[in-house]
Amino acid sequence: VERTLVLVKPDGVARGLSGEVIRRIETKGYRVVALQLTTATPELLAQHYAEHEGKPFYQPLVDFMLSGPVVALVAEGERVIEGFRSLAGATDPTAAAPGTIRGDLGRDWGLAVQQNIVHGSDSAESAAREIGLWFPAS
Ligand code: GTP
Ligand code: MG
Repeated sequence: VERTLVLVKPDGVARGLSGEVIRRIETKGYRVVALQLTTATPELLAQHYAEHEGKPFYQPLVDFMLSGPVVALVAEGERVIEGFRSLAGATDPTAAAPGTIRGDLGRDWGLAVQQNIVHGSDSAESAAREIGLWFPAS
């Protein structure tokens, strides 16, 4: 059975949407097996977002992720990596389909980075790597 790393990003926590995100994960039938409210560090984000280094939105993304606490959680279930990406919807919250977290709850705020409420690991390799970063003891 798979595990994936989910982050409720600072915009989601600040808007009081952590519970709504967890509700959608649980009502889909996935299990939350680890959960913490935490504030990222530049070192952690450099590793978490290494694939995006050099892109125009990289520094705004890192600054945004440092702007407040995030809820980090590990969700477990059959095909949960793909399943949570499906619950989250497209990266661009304006284009994300209604019914998804980003489509229902997000929109474009005209900022340098898309504030799209959640992160979800995009592959088994990313999930293993990211769970190790955010939950080093597990
Ligand atoms: P995550 O689950 O957060 O990793 O989102 P994703 O996998 O849908 O997107 P990706 O990993 O490609 O990008 C990481 C984050 O960078 C996104 O969630 C956005 O917050 C931001 N981002 C990605 N692409 C763009 C872009 O083209 N423009 C802007 N402004 N921000 C972007
Ligand atoms: Mg990604």
